[in-house]
Amino acid sequence: MKTNKKAIPTIVVIFGGTGDLAKRKLIPAFYNLFLDGWMPGKYEIFGLGRTELEESAYRERLKEGVAEFSRNGAPANDKWAEFSEHITYFRSNINDPASYQELAGRLDGFDQEWGTRANRLFYLSVAPQFIEAVTVNIHDHGLAANPSTDRIVIEKPFGHNKETAIELNQLLTRTFQEEQIYRIDHYLGKETVQNILAFRFANALFEPLWNRNYIDYVQITVAEQVGVEDRGDYYESSGALRDMIQNHLLQILCMVAMEAPVSFEAEEIRNRKVDVMRAVRRIKPEEVHRYAVRGQYDAGWIQGKKVPGYREEPDVNANSNTETFVAIKFYLDNWRWQGVPFYLRTGKRMQEKTSSITIQFRPVPHSTFNDNQSDTLMPNRLTINIQPQMDIRLRFMAKKTGLDMNLNPAEMVFNYDNCSTQTPEAYETLLLDAMLGDATLFMRSDQVEEAWDVITPILEVWGSRDSIDFPNYAAGSWGPENAEALIARQGHVWALNHHAKEKTK
Ligand code: BG6
Repeated sequence: MKTNKKAIPTIVVIFGGTGDLAKRKLIPAFYNLFLDGWMPGKYEIFGLGRTELEESAYRERLKEGVAEFSRNGAPANDKWAEFSEHITYFRSNINDPASYQELAGRLDGFDQEWGTRANRLFYLSVAPQFIEAVTVNIHDHGLAANPSTDRIVIEKPFGHNKETAIELNQLLTRTFQEEQIYRIDHYLGKETVQNILAFRFANALFEPLWNRNYIDYVQITVAEQVGVEDRGDYYESSGALRDMIQNHLLQILCMVAMEAPVSFEAEEIRNRKVDVMRAVRRIKPEEVHRYAVRGQYDAGWIQGKKVPGYREEPDVNANSNTETFVAIKFYLDNWRWQGVPFYLRTGKRMQEKTSSITIQFRPVPHSTFNDNQSDTLMPNRLTINIQPQMDIRLRFMAKKTGLDMNLNPAEMVFNYDNCSTQTPEAYETLLLDAMLGDATLFMRSDQVEEAWDVITPILEVWGSRDSIDFPNYAAGSWGPENAEALIARQGHVWALNHHAKEKTK
């Protein structure tokens, strides 16, 4: 993990430099790193695009992006001027070798000027069909010839299924060594997600309880209020299972369920996470309906505004079979977690935007208190709120003040709002790590392939059978009823939408 050493001179090359990601996430993140003193003494950011664009116009466009999307708001003119001097707009054709030849000359020019071979970070923010052209040309023009300093960062989707993920990994490893490949999952850069490991492994208190003997079940919910917006085209070929479960939710599952790593080295952490993926019990095709529920949103109301159903969104088929909601029950076949259900759930157009992890502990073995008191007894629960609320809450029972022995649930809360420093954005953490060559928070090829393997039976069954009840939940709800039924079979409820009191069994 990062220390406060700064990266050595670095050149960042963004393929897709005129795209949305560069404007909303990448440049605001680099700018904030610059403000906080994390950028190297010498750096240059090349934004690549097809459009004819003056450099000043390009910088201006990025400045607008920073003003709109940065956690620090509109940039001060002097600071922005200082930072943006290091931004070059490079007009290029992604398929044309001549562009790469010219780029090679420009990069070498910086090395000569700086008197050192700079780190090179190639950021691929391009559609999957362009990855081959970019990597082949990077290879052919020797742009990333130095494995210890040159890295490539790629965005999801990492393939469309396990087979294509393997093909993509093979393609990448023709040009890069695995150590040079940084597969980004922005959830891993979130402060609250990183904190799961600190919470688990920097405290002696929780780890002895963190297993099947004390934990009843685990829930991971990532609920969004937004719909697919203008991404209908992409989403139609993806769906929630590929878009969210295969990566973000399974990564969170790994952090919650992994064994204690021996050290904080990237390979050690990644090994422990892969162990979790391997332990996830594969669902048999004929059992998919018992373990997984899919949903698609209908029209409804979000924050007092009427919103259309998924099938009415732009670029979406009027009879689309694409799921916008998924709930799955997983089991892990290992000593720690045998028999403990892990419920994962994600959806668009849900009632609230909220991502959280619930660790539900087992009830007390015997109720010491009289009958009417046992009605109010609730099992301990640890809630890790990832966003937008950022806190960790431990629920326990306490005596109500008064002369009677009455019980009430109480909470101990750690709230990030009380911390003095501002929370960095996920991309700030991840881009800095990539510049420093720390791959801990990035996914290795085997992790990606295992994650595909875990969801393959569900993908295949759903892909081969249209859902007869779509759309099956109203925008602004908590998803289809079947998602409740999925976990009700074991007497469980979704923690977020049921603040009803659960009794101790
Ligand atoms: C992306 C998905 O990876 O994550 C989007 O493609 C989703 O569909 C987004 O909206 C959620 O990210 P966050 O950080 O807003 O929770």
